[in-house]
Amino acid sequence: MIKFKEVSKIYPPNCPALGNIDITINEKEFVSIAGRSGAGKSTLIKLLIREESPSQGQIFWGKQDIGQIHRRDLPLWRRQIGMIFQNFRLLSNKTAYENIAFAMEAGGRIKQDIERDVPQLLRLVNLTERAEHFPDQLSGGEKQRVAIARALAHRPKVLIADEPTGNLDLLHTWEIVRLLIKINELGTIVILATHDREIINGLDKRVITLEKGKVIKDDEQGKYILF
Ligand SMILES: Nc1ncnc2c1ncn2[C@@H]1O[C@H](COP(=O)(O)OP(=O)(O)OP(=O)(O)O)[C@@H](O)[C@H]1O
Ligand SMILES: [Mg+2]
Repeated sequence: MIKFKEVSKIYPPNCPALGNIDITINEKEFVSIAGRSGAGKSTLIKLLIREESPSQGQIFWGKQDIGQIHRRDLPLWRRQIGMIFQNFRLLSNKTAYENIAFAMEAGGRIKQDIERDVPQLLRLVNLTERAEHFPDQLSGGEKQRVAIARALAHRPKVLIADEPTGNLDLLHTWEIVRLLIKINELGTIVILATHDREIINGLDKRVITLEKGKVIKDDEQGKYILF
């Protein structure tokens, strides 16, 4: 499904971030991207969603070389990707319900779809009771669950999480990880970038480990091997 072919990234003028990356990610996989701060995890994700372009090499989604997608087609193409971040990125003046509904509106979805899907998405992330709460009335874990529901609103094929638990305590961290596992079991590829050793060791899933921009390990049921 996703293929990195000899991909390198050098940020101008001369900051190498990734070198010669060859990775294949298949349908329905759950893949963690591990590595120390600065190893290149976020860069890998930015290349994957074409927020940055590789200095060398190609990235394919299915048969499509994403470097060839016209700029004006990018927003539509990106709808097959759900993204979540460490800092949640919710709209503070909108409720949990409205945050999800707004993303759907922006994606051109009709009112009937929105009224049907938002309650379902809230149920999926177990937040039905918090629908009318604003972000500052939610815990960190709850905010991240709203962000996950929003990321799923376009029914993406892939959910990408860049340090989604970086701002959460241990309890909420596992709540989010369990939710990501559930979403993966429902058929979505999950790509999780994290330097959290506990998460990786507890997952028992594929782990790609980066060090200084290189893949140093790619294990089907990996452990965190740095340090
Ligand atoms: N826009 C940029 N311009 C120049 N250098 C950059 C830029 N973004 C990242 N880098 C550099 O590229 C390298 C990889 O950064 P990246 O953000 O991908 O690491 P990371 O593994 O996500 O780290 P962290 O765990 O701290 O989030 C680092 O050396 C970083 O300083
Ligand atoms: Mg990062």
